[in-house]
Amino acid sequence: MNGSGARSVLARLTLPGLEAFIPCARRCVVDAVAVSGCWAIGDLPVLVSELVTNAVKHTASGRPGGVLDVLVSERGGTCGERLLRVEVVDCGSSSVPVAREPTDFGSGGRGLWIVQSLAETWGFWKAGGKQGVWFELRADAGTERRAAGPEWGE
Ligand SMILES: Nc1ncnc2c1ncn2[C@@H]1O[C@H](COP(=O)(O)OP(=O)(O)O)[C@@H](O)[C@H]1O
Ligand SMILES: [Mg+2]
Repeated sequence: MNGSGARSVLARLTLPGLEAFIPCARRCVVDAVAVSGCWAIGDLPVLVSELVTNAVKHTASGRPGGVLDVLVSERGGTCGERLLRVEVVDCGSSSVPVAREPTDFGSGGRGLWIVQSLAETWGFWKAGGKQGVWFELRADAGTERRAAGPEWGE
C-alpha cells in the first residue's frame, strides 16, 4: 500500500461549533463509514469525538457563531489497502495540536495522545486562518468489514 491515489469523499458536513453537536458529528461520520461497507467502526467514534471536541474547546470555532467542517474520505486500492481519513477543519487558533504523554497528574490533555495511539497516523495544517486536524485509519484484516450496518451505540 503506498497510500497514494485519488481520494473519494464519503461525507462532508458543516456544524455549529457547539458541544451539543458533537454527537451529531460522531453519528454522521460513523453512518457514512458504515454505508461505505469497507470499514469496521471500532475506534472511530472516540477519534471523531476527540477532534471535534478540540475544535470546539481550543479554536475560534467554539466562539459564538463559529462553525467547523468534518470531511471523511478514503483512498487506496482494494478494501484491505484503503486508508480512511477524517479531517476536522476549524476557524483557527493561536495554539497548535500537541499529543502529550499522559502523566499521573492532571485530568485532561489525553485526547490527542489517544488519537495518536489508535490511529495509523494523524497531523494538522494551518492555512488562511483555518486549521485542519486529521487522522487516518487503515483497513487491515482486523478492521475490514464488507457487510455495512450500524454497530455503534450512543
Ligand atoms: N484543534 C486544535 N487547535 C489548537 N490547539 C489544539 C487543538 N487540539 C488540541 N490542541 C492543543 O493540544 C492540547 C492537547 O489536546 P488534547 O490532548 O486533546 O487535550 P485537552 O483537549 O484535554 O487539552 C490542547 O490542550 C491544546 O493546547
Ligand atoms: Mg482534547
